[in-house]
Amino acid sequence: MSAKKGPVLRDGTAVADLVDLDLQEVKLRALSDQEIYEIEQRKIFGKVWLLLGHETEIPNAGDYVQRHMGDDSVLVARARDGQVHVSLNVCPHRGMKITTHESGNTQIHTCIYHGWAFKPDGEFLGSPVADQCMHGKMLSKQELGLQKARVTLYGGLIWATWNHDGPSFEEFLGDTKWYYDMLYCRTNKGMEVAGPPQRFIVRGNWKTAGEQSAADGFHTLTLHRWLGEVGNYQSDSGKKQGSELTEEMFGAEVSSPHGHALRCIDLARKIKKLTGKDPSELSVQEKLNALPPPGMTPDMVEQLAQNLSPEQMQVMAWMPPQVGGMFPNIIFEFLYIPQPDGNVVGSLSLHTYVPKGPDKLEFTNWIFVEKDTPPELREKMIQQSVRLLGTSGMVEADDSDTWPHMTLAAKGAQARNRTMKYQALYETGAPEGWPGPGIVNEGFTKDDTQWHWWKYWYELMMAED
Ligand code: FES
Ligand SMILES: [Fe+2]
Repeated sequence: MSAKKGPVLRDGTAVADLVDLDLQEVKLRALSDQEIYEIEQRKIFGKVWLLLGHETEIPNAGDYVQRHMGDDSVLVARARDGQVHVSLNVCPHRGMKITTHESGNTQIHTCIYHGWAFKPDGEFLGSPVADQCMHGKMLSKQELGLQKARVTLYGGLIWATWNHDGPSFEEFLGDTKWYYDMLYCRTNKGMEVAGPPQRFIVRGNWKTAGEQSAADGFHTLTLHRWLGEVGNYQSDSGKKQGSELTEEMFGAEVSSPHGHALRCIDLARKIKKLTGKDPSELSVQEKLNALPPPGMTPDMVEQLAQNLSPEQMQVMAWMPPQVGGMFPNIIFEFLYIPQPDGNVVGSLSLHTYVPKGPDKLEFTNWIFVEKDTPPELREKMIQQSVRLLGTSGMVEADDSDTWPHMTLAAKGAQARNRTMKYQALYETGAPEGWPGPGIVNEGFTKDDTQWHWWKYWYELMMAED
């Protein structure tokens, strides 16, 4: 691939020169530049599959939410036949928003400007004063519908893309689907949202959060070190502060040529603490009963075998995926969080970092439970989640302090040419006996997954429109 191909910025800098593929570095300028932002809107947010929500947010016919695909507002709506549709929230008449509400229920979306009306699936119904035919006679009704995105539901999660001829969602996930199935598709009834998503603005470029999510384990030990000092991961003895947190850095990490990433963290210590036994002496079933996945009780564990393969069950009882990213702007946190009483409470959440200009992102946080999660556990999970994650979450208060500083730094005349470095690489390969597919490495968390994220960003930015 020629370094001279791809977009060239107004000052003559080639986007190709922002990423050093050999040295594994990215120029800081990539983090805060209006021109790069505009190219990303076309080449990334106009092309890949994007997460917009969960079907339990719009359970009834006519329910809708307003969401964003990059800068574009979209209407996510359920039609009478139960199908979920995603349409550009822009009136084909003169460009007014079709809905200005965040959510609601209607069978007819009427533009407030001149009253053109649309069905939840985006189909044009008509304009007022029918006998005057105020939508004209030059275009058919079919041509006056809202612009439609391609939609798929996976684990109840609603995904959409403008790329109608591009890869399927399954192709986009590739080998990592095997692992995401273990998160989103492991129970019979599936997950549901615990309420509307939390949303807040962070004055940082979307990629500061996106690349961290894919999946920077290292910073947990430093930026979030309080978790080991006074938080959930204090050592039992209280002497070796942070030691429990250090242990959480070990496991297997899954990289993806499409920038997805999973950190699979070893459960051995937690299972040993709960059972008093060496996990190697326990069967997969015994381990899952002792420490069911987040959101599940021992009663629910039998559902795993109905939805997952024996190999997925083996990984679930050994080193399940707990945190990671989905390209371009998603983090999942399916965590087993130690409690002061020695038990473990799970937390299930997904965030998107919606770009709002080169220096601003909207942080959206969905908290999930399994539909079958009993009320008492559900309450504990929600409390746990809001303490650590999202608007009130102490962990993410740390993260959202770094992103604005990096974004601002990237504007400096000197700093914009400095680089971010991704040179701490695994030299290990997958754990012995690992049954899962993909690019897997074992050991202390490293930079491989994040470097794959940047390589896919580069590939998309260099691709023809
Ligand atoms: S802009 Fe919507 S009806 Fe005119
Ligand atoms: Fe973090």
